[in-house]
Order: sequence, then C-alpha cells, then structure tokens
Amino acid sequence: KDQKMYKQGMIRLMPDGWLYPTAFINFADRIYNFEFRSSDVVLMTMPKSGTTWMQEILWTMLHNPDLDHPQADEPIYHRAPEISLDMMFDSKGMEGAKIDNFARAFIETCPGRKPEDGMSLQMCELTADPRVIKTHLPLSVLAPDLLDKAKVVYVARNPKDVVVSYYYYYCMMKAFTYTGSFTNFVKLAWEKKDHPNMFFVFYEDMKEDIMAVLHKLNKFLGTNLTQQQLDNVSRHTSFSAMKSRGEPLIDGDVFNADVREKVGGYFRKGIIGDWKNHFTPELEQEMNQWVESHVPDIGITFK
Ligand code: A3P
Repeated sequence: KDQKMYKQGMIRLMPDGWLYPTAFINFADRIYNFEFRSSDVVLMTMPKSGTTWMQEILWTMLHNPDLDHPQADEPIYHRAPEISLDMMFDSKGMEGAKIDNFARAFIETCPGRKPEDGMSLQMCELTADPRVIKTHLPLSVLAPDLLDKAKVVYVARNPKDVVVSYYYYYCMMKAFTYTGSFTNFVKLAWEKKDHPNMFFVFYEDMKEDIMAVLHKLNKFLGTNLTQQQLDNVSRHTSFSAMKSRGEPLIDGDVFNADVREKVGGYFRKGIIGDWKNHFTPELEQEMNQWVESHVPDIGITFK
C-alpha cells in the first residue's frame, strides 16, 4: 500500500529519512515555527502506543481533575488537538474520512480565520491554556526549542503489541496515509529522555501501575492534584470508562463497519502481550531479529 501511494505521489521521502504524506510540505514551515508556550504539554507517540489514553489523562489532570468540566464529553481531539493532522486532511488518501465538522465550524466563527489554512494547526493555536497538543511527528520537524519552552510526554510501547494494534487499525481504516519506522521515531525522543522537560513512559508501566505514573506526572506537570483527584483521573481514563464514552475519531465513515465490529473498534483490547495471540514462532523470531538489529544502538529495553 505504501509503495502504491509513493508511486502515486501521495507520500514522499524527506531529507530526514522519513516518509511523509506529500501534503505535509504545505504545512512543514508552520509546524516548525509553531509557537509553544511554557504552559503547553506536548504528547508525542508512535501511533497505537496508547496516545488516546495519555491524551485523556493529561487533559483530565490539567482541566478536569474534579470531573465537572462542561466540555469533558467533547471528543478528545477537540480538547487536545493534534499538530500534524492537516496533512492527513489534505491528502487524497483520506478521501474516506469527512473533514471534521466541529473544527471547521469553530474556525469559521473566529474572525480572520479560514479552515483552508490548516484546521488542526489552528485548533492547536486556538485551544485554551494549558494546551495539551498531540503529535505523531518526530522532534526533527518540530520547533528546535520545543523542550526549552514546553513539556513533552512521550509514550512508547512494546513494538510487537504496537504491530498487532496497528494491524487491526489498518484493517478497520478505509484509507491510511501514515507510515514510518518505529525505531527512528522513538530514537529521536529517547536521546532527549533525560531532558527535565521530557517525561518518557512505557505503555506497559501505565498498565501495570497507573497510580505510580499519575503521581510522577503530578510532579512533572506541577498540577498538585490531591489523591482524590488522582483517583478521579485514574477512574475516568480506565480502558472500560473510555471505551464506554465512545470512539475518539473524527466524524465520518473512517472504518469499515463490519470489520470494526469484529475487531472491537478503536478501544480494541488495551492489554499487554496480545502479540502472543498473533505471532507464529517464525514471525516472532523474525520480529525479534528486527528489534535486536535496530534497538540496541539506542539502548531501549522494551517491556
Ligand atoms: P490495542 O489495539 O492493543 O487494544 P493509540 O491511542 O496510540 O492509537 O493506541 C491505541 C491502543 O491503546 C489500543 O490498543 C487501545 O485499545 C489502547 N488504549 C486506549 N485507551 C486505553 C486505556 N484507557 N487503557 C489501556 N489501553 C488503552
């Protein structure tokens, strides 16, 4: 699929060695020059690593620790917008997805703004402080002083579970435009993992002891939440609570309904080690070799 899209000119190889949707070019400068604020928290992940979970945690810690915020039921991508989605909106590969009507309507009410000027970038600009901004882009295309200005939370997940999660996601999606190497993606952030403004966490640690992670985040974010409020956040962002509140996706028919039904939807299983139900011994060996040959040089030990 990627090769086909490459030949059709929908994706391009960029100087940093990554494949990007061609439409990214239209937004690259603005993304690089995006003005971060000291109150911003940027959530950075490889897709399928637990982004939506951490997105909801961060927004809830910063805006809704008492679970009484009137906008809490709005889709998470309205409350914590993504900085890279414009290239998806702009790409032919997303024909199946309707443009997000909420963002369009909201931007149209703002004087001097037009949806055509990049909806997700403008949503990031317009969203209320303290902003939680999600991105799947590597540090190399974001503002070089990002970590000097804002805080970054990076979630990484065992590559085998990411592959399984991604696989089902691809199965459900009618069209998909993102592609990239997992290792390169993590590597750029891993090199900065000890930066005081970088909080690096594994999905597996969140699954094993979410309270421990929330306590650390409470210090990192400077939110000073009480134990009661941290309990609220934990309950509100549990897998079952988030699944029962509904899918985080842009409206429109992004998924094939019948496959979605079988797979379980965006909140699929949310567990550690589902790869064991999917990998043959041969495939596991192949993947282990891939991980071994790519990961040792960056010193990450996945859980
Ligand atoms: P599975 O497909 O393994 O179930 P992302 O948000 O980065 O796309 O990641 C999606 C993965 O995170 C899915 O994994 C999804 O089920 C899981 N997930 C989402 N919310 C979660 C939660 N509250 N707790 C645990 N896992 C969650």
